[in-house]
Amino acid sequence: MTTDIATVRRAYRRYASIYGVLFGWSLEHGRRQLARLLKASPGESLLEVGVGTGLLLPHYPRDIAVVGIDVSEHMLEVARARVERLGLAHVTLQTMDAETTGFASGSFDHVVLPYVYSVTPDPRQLVHEARRVCKPGGNIYVLNHFSGYGFWSVIEPVLRPFASGLGFRPDIPLSRLLDDLRWRVVSDQPVNAFGLTRLIHFRA
Ligand SMILES: C[S@@+](CC[C@H](N)C(=O)[O-])C[C@H]1O[C@@H](n2cnc3c(N)ncnc32)[C@H](O)[C@@H]1O
Repeated sequence: MTTDIATVRRAYRRYASIYGVLFGWSLEHGRRQLARLLKASPGESLLEVGVGTGLLLPHYPRDIAVVGIDVSEHMLEVARARVERLGLAHVTLQTMDAETTGFASGSFDHVVLPYVYSVTPDPRQLVHEARRVCKPGGNIYVLNHFSGYGFWSVIEPVLRPFASGLGFRPDIPLSRLLDDLRWRVVSDQPVNAFGLTRLIHFRA
């Protein structure tokens, strides 16, 4: 499936009001495990790529500076309301394409990619940009499904014919991420029901 930012925006405009119902609880275990894995010290910085409606935001420690970016204004609108409602003063949200951010190199201690690697038009470019904005010795966390892995291998062929309308690629292989990122894998664990998703922690 080839896509572009306009297609991503269109898909997530449709999802924005129902995203929490569809993917809130069902992908929540992965988000919680990611937040547990994150070893952030007070004062450190974190970039969340594809922050969507901000479901991960309440799980981050409040003594770090969090920046959340997304290309979908409709998803960000929901995230902004959440930030306001929960008083998350340590969080800043920006409309930005994560494949070409305006951030200086080495801006963040932690870069988090939750359920976005298989959504973005060019996953390799997304990962290269994540590496660039991450500090030397920093951490990248990827949460995603991967082709042929566990129970996902059952769902994948069912979803494949609908890929263009889904707003994500169901059949992206892990080898592609490992090739794109080329950092040391610190840990790799199955998360969500039936181990549907993988949570991988990389360090430079
Ligand atoms: C499946 S949702 C994940 C939302 C959230 N991270 C979560 O935990 O549920 C993917 C999000 O990534 C955003 N996205 C996709 N490609 C992007 C890009 N290149 N730059 C910024 N955001 C992007 C979409 O607009 C959407 O909000």
